[in-house]
Amino acid sequence: MTATILVTGGAGYIGSHACLALLQAGYAVVAIDNLCNSHARALERVRQLAGRDLHFVQGDIRDAAALGRLFADHPIAAVMHFAGLKAVGESCKKPLLYYDNNVLGTISLLQAMERAAVKRLIFSSSATVYGFPERMPIDEEAPLAAYNPYGRTKQMIEQMLGDLCLPTAQDGWQVALLRYFNPVGAHESGMIGEDPGGIPNNLLPYVTQVAAGRREWLPVFGNDYPTADGTGVRDYIHVLDLVDGHLKALQKLETLPEGEGFCRAWNLGTGQGYSVLEMVRTFEQVNGVAVPYRIMPRRDGDVASCWADASRAKTELGWVAKRDLATMLADSWRWQHNNPDGYR
Ligand code: NAD
Ligand code: UFG
Repeated sequence: MTATILVTGGAGYIGSHACLALLQAGYAVVAIDNLCNSHARALERVRQLAGRDLHFVQGDIRDAAALGRLFADHPIAAVMHFAGLKAVGESCKKPLLYYDNNVLGTISLLQAMERAAVKRLIFSSSATVYGFPERMPIDEEAPLAAYNPYGRTKQMIEQMLGDLCLPTAQDGWQVALLRYFNPVGAHESGMIGEDPGGIPNNLLPYVTQVAAGRREWLPVFGNDYPTADGTGVRDYIHVLDLVDGHLKALQKLETLPEGEGFCRAWNLGTGQGYSVLEMVRTFEQVNGVAVPYRIMPRRDGDVASCWADASRAKTELGWVAKRDLATMLADSWRWQHNNPDGYR
């Protein structure tokens, strides 16, 4: 029988790519999203690309009644939990909004799962839980030290999920904590991708909007970091590789005996860091477009460098990121070029 997977935040950037990959892998998909940072059109395109339908519920994961109906109506086998707010700066201005949406939203989801006896969960965590790491690359045993409200919501949720899986806890939850590094890129069709509202917070959407002429120049936040060219270094990972890591984690949970408590963290990154200026130059070369930039002061809260030791995911999940930087940057540009105004 086809297993049904619930995808929270399914209309979002990573969630929409996950819905497509699940459909392509033969799963049935139910997606819930309140569309606070996304558009239902993303799911129409997912249906088109997959040539298969999925069930979409427009709703909030904090709505217990809506979740109750959803679990009553569909035989959910496992949940991929992407729904959440993710803007670090906004989380510093409106911390309560982030604790309410991310932490209470997750508790509401877990309660609905418990009522429906669904115990398998794959959670979108973030490398931000490592804070300012002492050494590179970062492995999963590095201490957790999130330093902004957004990061702390991820860390709190990780801790809560860990507690559900303690040997003393009676319920036998099975949880994968996937710590993403920097997701970029888009499906190679150019039909689904990242569609941030307002001024982009992240590097790649800013770069593509400058290349498209929507913005004049890219602010490069600092060129005096202790890195080769002075600009910040990150581990960029193609969203399709990231989503493939979710399928591998799901398969891992599916092999566990039911009722056996399990909680494990895996880094999802490539293990390779690139600086902001390397990103800009490679983007220009690969896509043949100019990206003017200006050096600006450092952005508050940025680490100099951050890249993953992704060997645990390789050993335990059989997962490695396959797509190179040129592919990430070409796919990001194709999406932006084909959809200058995103889904609008
Ligand atoms: P996104 O904003 O595109 O997707 C999140 C989706 O969740 C959106 O469609 C939004 O409308 C929905 N949502 C938010 N709150 C909701 C609620 N209460 N009920 C129902 N739906 C709700 O973001 P994304 O980049 O796809 O990120 C997905 C997840 O991965 C998030 O949890 C994010 O924190 C995490 N993450 C993202 C990154 C990144 O750089 N993109 C890095 C690390 C972790
Ligand atoms: N940068 C610029 N100009 C910009 C945007 C970013 O120079 O306009 C630089 C940043 O200073 C940093 C690098 O580009 O050196 C990457 O910045 P992003 O904002 O794209 O990514 P971050 O590493 O700061 O943060 C991202 C997500 C977080 C997540 C973290 C780790 O935004 O939510 O990755 O997964 F926690």
